[in-house]
Amino acid sequence: SDLNLQEIHDTLISVAHEAGRMILSANPQDIDTGTKLNSADIVTETDKAVEALVSSRLSKAYPTFAFIGEETYKPGMQVTDAPTFIVDPIDGTLNFVHNFPEACISLGFAVDKIPTVGVVYNPYQDKLYSAIRGQGAYVTQGAVWGLEGGKGRKAKLPLSKNPPPLKELYTCMLASEWGNSRDGVNFEVKTEVFKKLCASKDTGGAMVQSIRSMGSAALNLCAVAAGQLDGYWEGGCWAWDVCAGWAILAEAGGIMVGGNPGVWEPRIDERKYFAVRGAPSGQKELVEEFWNVIGDRR
Ligand code: IPD
Repeated sequence: SDLNLQEIHDTLISVAHEAGRMILSANPQDIDTGTKLNSADIVTETDKAVEALVSSRLSKAYPTFAFIGEETYKPGMQVTDAPTFIVDPIDGTLNFVHNFPEACISLGFAVDKIPTVGVVYNPYQDKLYSAIRGQGAYVTQGAVWGLEGGKGRKAKLPLSKNPPPLKELYTCMLASEWGNSRDGVNFEVKTEVFKKLCASKDTGGAMVQSIRSMGSAALNLCAVAAGQLDGYWEGGCWAWDVCAGWAILAEAGGIMVGGNPGVWEPRIDERKYFAVRGAPSGQKELVEEFWNVIGDRR
């Protein structure tokens, strides 16, 4: 195709830096009440302002591309094969509200529904993850702070040149999240999965070493891409939570599969995902063990 992916990538980075400054200078207590599900499902004025900024910058630079953003999403909107920006202005809104420095701007770009460019920026740590399909994934720290002559310290992902093979789940540290749906079938499923992953093996559990819930889907995917977590499971993600992180994960040798057994090539609107880090062997076996333990979730 004649898309200039490098230019799109560079544009996303400059928009991410601009959005990052906006997040750092905003008042997290400016909460918009009334629009969302419950008290764990919050949107702030900053989420909306950042999305407006991102969408205006991107529609000016790329007027013909589609745009899907968390705060302007309406039921029924779908990702099509067209070049599409898929944006979460603040992934980790609750962390933002509580000043817990694990929140990011997640800027994805999909073509033919395939995550093709990903930029995930944590402004609190000036840490930027980025990838272009086919060109590797990177993390750059300190570019805005001015480290290394203003370029920041850049490293290729995964951070280890020789990531160890993946063994069984009992050797793994995973991420998973409680998300914001807190009742009904989805909540039951989530609770069950946490329990099954952590329970001892003689009770049918996987006995993973631990589960981390840091509060941002995109940053979880980046941590898996970096090789700092072995995997990440969530039921209830949206395309804007995963698109950018998925592009980064795939370029770092990781894989995304569905939460349902047998879904090796999940769609971008799958909602349930299991992400696994890059490894010389064991990825498939780990996925199969995971599906065995959690059972069929269809
Ligand atoms: C949420 C975060 C959270 C995850 C939810 C997401 P938001 O995104 O990524 O970790 O559990 O599923 O919706 O609402 O902070 O943009």
